[in-house]
Amino acid sequence: MNIQSKNPKTWLITGAAGFIGSNLTEALLKLDQTVVGLDNLSTGYRHNLDQIKDGVAPSQWGRFRFVEGDTRYPEHCRNACQGIDYVLHQAALGSVPRSIADPALTNENNITGFVNMLVAARDAKVRRFVYAASSSTYGDHPGLPKMEDTIGRPLSPYAVTKYVNELYADVFARCYGMNTIGLRYFNIFGPRQDPEGAYAAVIPKWIAAMIANQPVYINGDGETSRDFCYIDNAVQANLLAATTENTDALNHVYNVAVGERTTLNQLFEYIRSHLIPQFAHLKEFFPIYREFREGDVRHSLADISKAKSLLGYAPSHRIDQGLKTAMSWYIAHTP
Ligand SMILES: NC(=O)c1ccc[n+]([C@@H]2O[C@H](COP(=O)([O-])OP(=O)(O)OC[C@H]3O[C@@H](n4cnc5c(N)ncnc54)[C@H](O)[C@@H]3O)[C@@H](O)[C@H]2O)c1
Repeated sequence: MNIQSKNPKTWLITGAAGFIGSNLTEALLKLDQTVVGLDNLSTGYRHNLDQIKDGVAPSQWGRFRFVEGDTRYPEHCRNACQGIDYVLHQAALGSVPRSIADPALTNENNITGFVNMLVAARDAKVRRFVYAASSSTYGDHPGLPKMEDTIGRPLSPYAVTKYVNELYADVFARCYGMNTIGLRYFNIFGPRQDPEGAYAAVIPKWIAAMIANQPVYINGDGETSRDFCYIDNAVQANLLAATTENTDALNHVYNVAVGERTTLNQLFEYIRSHLIPQFAHLKEFFPIYREFREGDVRHSLADISKAKSLLGYAPSHRIDQGLKTAMSWYIAHTP
């Protein structure tokens, strides 16, 4: 990966106060890069930025500038893109159920915000625009493993927005010669993923519940499966996508996952076994099964050969390694 501390580049990370954005920010500061973080703090937190500050050297923190701003406003995007080499666009409203509850809000943040960022990045002549796409784009297509060229119909407003992002990126490459890369994340997990609220992701939510001896709910029979992907793998994919010199790799979308499928029942057992040494109450602890959730796909598993061959992606963590690595963080930061 061609990132040099002697010749630092300037990166704009939208959604920098969120889960994935804050991990990207921390990784780039540790590589002595200059980082601008843009976030409206709708689902992100200042305490995520504080944790970055604690994790990097003071000189590295000095290379970070936070801009509280909103991608729904073109001028915020325009200002943020000034002098930027690489954009890693993460800002969006996640969560399938949130989008079902409020599709217009998801549309504004995820589509209007996306187009504003593309326009601003085009006008600022950034070298590359890497953006967070989603495995939800596979929709109702039953094929496994998921390969980038074969998608089904979207199952939620959120999935529509993420697919529309890909269409816009493609059109901006054609019409304006932009260099874009979309990363279809598959259930990313790790430190700083929010455990709170109705729209929390399964891993931080379950860990918080198990530690607090609260009920853990499994939607459906627990045989629903996902390709859970540790955050370090997603960071690696972003840095490769931003810096690849392989022109054949540009203006494509890539699966970002491990290429392994884990059921919710297996996930429950993995987490429980990592926590038992410190939380004896989990020796006798069982999930509560309830209805399947609207808009959820049954199985998800990625074929990651495209990212491997064109970007040189090689995931460093399988699910259990990721859980093991992050468990001390989860325990220390669970209220
Ligand atoms: N976490 C996953 O498993 C996963 C899977 C697929 C796709 N994604 C995508 O990855 C990206 C990052 O997700 P995350 O899990 O880190 O979520 P997150 O909610 O932790 O981070 C998103 C950040 O974007 C900010 N934001 C939202 N709308 C904004 C706007 N209009 N202007 C400025 N900032 C805004 C939020 O405040 C938050 O800090 C999103 O685009 C999401 O759709 C995530």
